Amino acid sequence: MEEAKDNQHLLKALGALDITLLGLGIIIGTGIFVLTGIGAAEYAGPGLMLSFVLAAVTCAFICLAYAELASFLPAAGSTYTYAYSSLGELFGWWVGWSLILEYSVGASAVAGGWSAYFSGILHAAGLDLPRQLIMVPAEGGWVNLPAVLIVVVSTALLIFGVQASAKINRLLVFIKLGTIFLFLFLAAPHINPLHWKPFLPFGVKGVVAGTAVLFFAYLGVDALATTAEEAKNPKRDMPIGILSALLLCTILYIAVCAVMTGVVPYPQLDTAAPASFVLEYIGLRFGSAIVGTGAICGLSTVILGMLFAQSRALYAMSRDGLIPMRLYKVHPRFRSPYIIQLLVGGVVAIITGFTPIHIVAEVCSAGTIFAFLCACVGILILRKRYPDKPRGFRCPAVKVIAPLGFIFCGFIFSQLSSCTMILFCVWTLIGFVVYGLYGYRHSELRKEEQ
Ligand code: ALA
Repeated sequence: MEEAKDNQHLLKALGALDITLLGLGIIIGTGIFVLTGIGAAEYAGPGLMLSFVLAAVTCAFICLAYAELASFLPAAGSTYTYAYSSLGELFGWWVGWSLILEYSVGASAVAGGWSAYFSGILHAAGLDLPRQLIMVPAEGGWVNLPAVLIVVVSTALLIFGVQASAKINRLLVFIKLGTIFLFLFLAAPHINPLHWKPFLPFGVKGVVAGTAVLFFAYLGVDALATTAEEAKNPKRDMPIGILSALLLCTILYIAVCAVMTGVVPYPQLDTAAPASFVLEYIGLRFGSAIVGTGAICGLSTVILGMLFAQSRALYAMSRDGLIPMRLYKVHPRFRSPYIIQLLVGGVVAIITGFTPIHIVAEVCSAGTIFAFLCACVGILILRKRYPDKPRGFRCPAVKVIAPLGFIFCGFIFSQLSSCTMILFCVWTLIGFVVYGLYGYRHSELRKEEQ
């Protein structure tokens, strides 16, 4: 409740530049530091650069829709709330349940990448952890221990020091950006353009499949839209801020991808720490260690952000009675929702400790894309239902942008692997069972109707 109240009195302090910087902080992480390697090696080769463009265009449509939704329903600021308000409780629940894939499963994927860079640095320092303790069972290990540990530390930070985590987060964002520029500076001179041929070794199909995996790299743009209420001049600052963040991320992503695939032949990039690997490949062990450290900082910001976002989404669901309200107990001293944060941290730690990273990343994309699809429909419904209600920001040409967002997202969704689709369907089914057993009976909406 505290938090919801606070949210209703947010300071209008953000300009377009703040929003852009915020975006770079939330968005850049595993997508660039981890998935680029796997994406190039297994899906699209150097053509992965085009996958980034396709994903960015899709996100641009979605962001514009999100910015309006966020300025229209600002208090709880999550896709769950948008779907709940526009499509009803069942869809709201479905989206909220899918958001668990985005945030919790997403945080697990990022923690897996964090672990890869962490082990890489220890390796560069001549310290090798036993393979059984850095590999998940599917890769022949027991547990990915560093991944579990970073989730535990992040959870503790969010519980004991929300203020401190915000400051640490800001510092880490700058280190992250510096790391990317350092990587480009060190590796770009070693590009061999012959490595870009063939440009599309897996054809256009590979580019599209790569987009589905890489969509993860843009995840977080939705969270950015929720700052609409804090923007000084939302009409102007929101589109400029969000689209600039998207554009800058895309340029950085393409540059990193071009350098990686230009320096190392793409089939060899099948590693979870490609930036370090590329620098080691050209004999820059020291650079590899620095970039690895920067990547670790960058990935930590994403883990913190996702664990935090998950607790907020669950809060909104518990307020509507769809999950037990007692889970959202605020710690008397630290003022953080410690029970739910512990629960989220525990689940994320288990997933990241025992599941291969590319599977979790793809399932995470599935959940997110589904939420995006609902947002595209939701915005049109809310426009129809409340045409004259004032909105801080109005999506321009909504009748074109929202359907385009829907079509692009639907297309990318259809390109996800069948394994991911099956996992998504199973997750959805479990969600409906949980809704039937708990949410339906305890729903605040139903109580009001009775
Ligand atoms: N976009 C975020 C990342 O790539 C989730 O890590």
